[in-house]
Amino acid sequence: MARITIPQLREKRAAGTPIVMVTAYDYPGARAAERAGVDMVLVGDSGAQVVLGHDSTVAITTDELLVLAKAVRRGTETAFVVCDVAFGTTEASDVQAVETAVRFVKEAGADAVKLEGGNASRLSRIRAIVAAGIPVVAHIGLTPQTATALGGLRAQGRTTESAARLVTEALGVQAAGAFCVVVEAVPTEITEVLREALDIPIIGIGAGPADGQVLVLHDLLGVTEGHTAKFVKSYGTIGADTTAAIAAYAAEVRAAAFPGPEHGYAAAPEAVAAARAVLAGE
Ligand code: KIV
Repeated sequence: MARITIPQLREKRAAGTPIVMVTAYDYPGARAAERAGVDMVLVGDSGAQVVLGHDSTVAITTDELLVLAKAVRRGTETAFVVCDVAFGTTEASDVQAVETAVRFVKEAGADAVKLEGGNASRLSRIRAIVAAGIPVVAHIGLTPQTATALGGLRAQGRTTESAARLVTEALGVQAAGAFCVVVEAVPTEITEVLREALDIPIIGIGAGPADGQVLVLHDLLGVTEGHTAKFVKSYGTIGADTTAAIAAYAAEVRAAAFPGPEHGYAAAPEAVAAARAVLAGE
């Protein structure tokens, strides 16, 4: 089957068919997402936290994201692959933004890049990247790369000022050429307004019903330790299962129960005799 296209994503929105997006950061994760039949895979900068152990998304670099993105690309056949751009790699100028986006397309085979924010300078970056022929997914609402400026990792669009800004930003990213927008941590009623305002698909995360949904893979698998956002739903217990499997392995090694005879290779008697002869100095 061929890779999903932007017109097909638009058709899904028009038909009211929810678009499924999930993050992935490596080949096995991408293979699982592909086998599960998701529409879009996001190589998220959330990999900074869930894969690399940083406490925020800002630490990840383009080179690190590219390693993850290449593996994800190799693991997908039909899913549309979107790559986050790292914080600090598009902020300086439109030229810098285009150079960064080009790397994801040329080096990792990304189908699109995702940019956080909807203020005037972000709209300029989106326009520049789209003009270079690279599809852009916008990301508004809670934008983790600039969470400090937003007052922390908190829902957006809950005050009159914030709700009005969200509508302005949504219209702005659409006008700038984004073909799709991720809306994060926004009240359901405000997402409804955004859906009325926009023609492009809205992928929600903590934003109620939308044209599609995205979750961080490690959150939905139950791998993430400690606090998770209110909007996270866990569909698995892979974290606990992984710990249990490693603990069982450790216990068997310590009890000399692993490896068993079935896990070893057999040598011909002459080979054993030759090895012993060397040991005996013959
Ligand atoms: O990096 C990421 O995982 C994201 C999603 C939360 C949308 O941007």
